[in-house]
Amino acid sequence: MSTNSIDSLLHETRRFPPSEAFAASAVATNELYEKAAADRVGFWADQSRELLHWHTPFTQTLDWSNAPFARWFADGELNVAYNCLDRHVLAGNGDRVAFHWEGENGDTASYTYSELTAAVKRAANVLTKLGIGQGDRVAIYLPVIPEAVIAMLAVARIGAVHSVVFGGFSAESLRSRIDDASAKLVITADGGWRKGKVFPLKPAVDGAIANGTSTIEHVLVVRRGENEVDWTDGRDRWWHDELASVPAEHEAQAFEAENPLFILYTSGTTGKPKGILHTSGGYLTQVAFTHKNVFDLHPETDVYWCTADVGWVTGHSYVIYGPLANGATQLLYEGTPDTPHPGRWWELIQKYRVSIFYTAPTAIRSFMKIGRQVPNQFDLSSLRVLGSVGEPINPEAWIWYRDVIGGGETPIVDTWWQTETGAIMISALPGVTSLKPGSAQVPIPGVKIDILGEDGTRVDPPRGGLLVVSEPWPSMLRGIWGDPDRFIETYWSKFSVPASEGQDAVWKYFAGDGAHVDTDGDIVLLGRVDDVMNVSGHRLSTQEIESALVSHPIVAEAAVVGAADEATGQAVVAFVIIKSNQADAQTADEASALLRRHVTEQIGAIARPRQIFIVAELPKTRSGKIMRRLLQDVAEGREIGDTTTLADTSVMQIISDKLK
Ligand code: WT7
Repeated sequence: MSTNSIDSLLHETRRFPPSEAFAASAVATNELYEKAAADRVGFWADQSRELLHWHTPFTQTLDWSNAPFARWFADGELNVAYNCLDRHVLAGNGDRVAFHWEGENGDTASYTYSELTAAVKRAANVLTKLGIGQGDRVAIYLPVIPEAVIAMLAVARIGAVHSVVFGGFSAESLRSRIDDASAKLVITADGGWRKGKVFPLKPAVDGAIANGTSTIEHVLVVRRGENEVDWTDGRDRWWHDELASVPAEHEAQAFEAENPLFILYTSGTTGKPKGILHTSGGYLTQVAFTHKNVFDLHPETDVYWCTADVGWVTGHSYVIYGPLANGATQLLYEGTPDTPHPGRWWELIQKYRVSIFYTAPTAIRSFMKIGRQVPNQFDLSSLRVLGSVGEPINPEAWIWYRDVIGGGETPIVDTWWQTETGAIMISALPGVTSLKPGSAQVPIPGVKIDILGEDGTRVDPPRGGLLVVSEPWPSMLRGIWGDPDRFIETYWSKFSVPASEGQDAVWKYFAGDGAHVDTDGDIVLLGRVDDVMNVSGHRLSTQEIESALVSHPIVAEAAVVGAADEATGQAVVAFVIIKSNQADAQTADEASALLRRHVTEQIGAIARPRQIFIVAELPKTRSGKIMRRLLQDVAEGREIGDTTTLADTSVMQIISDKLK
């Protein structure tokens, strides 16, 4: 499973209760748990009314009659972008900074809520002019620049649906996402800055829509990299030209609460990524609620920074929608943490007096490796809340984060959630919870989590089991784009109980994670239980990478495993059989370099294997299933486990001998 072994927890037994001063001015109090426990659904209705502006107030909260397809606040109407923009201006906060932006190359920009509202209004008019309307899909393939925020909000403002594709994904990945959602428009840039260089984006867009059958009608191009781009007249338009050519005014129209807001693709256990669908009212309610209460947001004074790229769900929920719905001031940074120097992040925290900081354990571990002398050169005293997301944070990293970055004082919230859950589901509330390193701890108020055994009964601490969400929640995914059967099969088939005479059906959401509850009742996440890897907090599917490998002409068969890795949590390790007529054409090193490049082209650099072992056989059961568990033993340098179910028990010996 993962790096969060129970052993390492035993070494850290300290608890960190909130300081009196912190608790005294904390946003969240114990009352939230009490209210939610008394009336879970009513609790969410109250939160939604308090946190959002509804053009048409809802009268129904949850409609679960067509489970597992949920409808929240279904008869209410709202505009998501209006909630993130106009209403703050109307409330007199137009001069508050919505975000400060730092380009990796030193460029900067700041947008107040008034300025951001004005920019989004123009962009909304551009989209309308280009024929985009309610329900149409718009692909966004951008670096972390202000236009990414503006583009996403403009799509939301007109009731269309965005599908943001991480800028590190290849043309092939972009193509499959555009095609799956039948997107009409792509918004991209002439480049972005990364590791001191401009990386191109436009060629990937051109490649993704080149086959002549693409549903894409227009490409909007933001100028950022100042590099040459190929141009298709009529189809391609410069963002700045288009914005200048439309009226400044745009009135936000209300859409029903279940109007789709976005699709975001994520890896599952099969080769094809799933388009996770989120809608408007419930999603915005839970991201706003969690952003405010989990991070103890005081919007008048805090400066918040979430380091996630907008291409991931963390960027959607905790860079765009949560913080902006709450009227927060935040920092956006385009590039890598170590460019031009290894203290860049800490320099930014010092410069903008960042008070709430949200990042991933993999980043923290890489800073640990460099050493505390780098952050120690900067004034980090503005920080008062730290967050972690994406994978389990091991207690050593937790303590380092608190001591070195948080000055030994800040609370750390370890937040568990997924692309599918839309918002944080398990986390401490600073000011309420006594913190325990290594544990995400407790479900947020209004969320019901259980740990079940394979047979579906609750397991008692300290035994491990499978994590399920036992009641619907506002920001839950509404489906997989275009594939309702896969939605039910993937998430709702394992533990749900069909209706029987006199008994309603019971629907339980299976998250794909292992977990256990400790004797205090705190939840400890143990990693994925399926063929999904977690590399640097990013989700990758073993099968997706295997498909990429076997698509290369020299490959006969491939098996991919996630091997424990000190820096990235897990790393991609591949075992490949080369076709016999190709085996002599190159050395194993050449073949492995070739295939690493091929995976980068097919999926993106995040999926590039750390190692590729060229082997003659793969371990298979008699029914032909590859036993990845054994390959994982090899990849992690362990004694090889039980091989008795293999069709040919000598295979593992041959593999491990060869690799020694
Ligand atoms: C998977 C979801 C949620 C945004 C980033 C990843 C793992 C996430 C934690 C945590 C232990 C975690 C789980 C989950 N995960 N947060 N705090 N502790 N594991 O989103 O790509 O949809 O991946 O990330 O395995 O299932 P995602």
